[in-house]
Amino acid sequence: MLDLTFQPLSILVLHGPNLNLLGRREPGIYGSLTLAEINRLLEEEGAKLQAKVYPMQSNHEGVLVDAIHEALEKYHGILINAGAYTHTSVALRDAIAAVNLPAVEVHLSNIYRREEFRHHSYIASVAVGQISGFGAQSYLLGLQALLYHLQNL
Ligand code: DQA
Repeated sequence: MLDLTFQPLSILVLHGPNLNLLGRREPGIYGSLTLAEINRLLEEEGAKLQAKVYPMQSNHEGVLVDAIHEALEKYHGILINAGAYTHTSVALRDAIAAVNLPAVEVHLSNIYRREEFRHHSYIASVAVGQISGFGAQSYLLGLQALLYHLQNL
């Protein structure tokens, strides 16, 4: 059971595979900000909204599954860009369903305007909602949406 009586809200920010290369990875699609810069923007936005964000990135599916399990009792919600695992990982989907923490899915690019294989998300059906296509701003919008959701439960 979530205990929202203590502040600030704690949010786990999960970045999936290849997002460690942001800044130099296909900048025409993903923008020029590095992951560290995006994390700093998230921390600043969180501070404005009385929330503390805890970012982590992994290229490994099992590490991300473990992080979701460990989020139970530690965080109020999860902001997740699962990268390519969005389109392949039943395990990540099941982990989010298992811990039953509110999760918001974000993508830098608009996955529906890209290749067909990116149009399906395994995360979407267990997320509160999804934000896709606004570059780094997707993360900030996603954080705002998650905090709004948590504060209005
Ligand atoms: C992404 C979109 C995915 O299709 C891709 O595999 C990524 C990044 C995005 O943020 O736009 O790694 O999640």
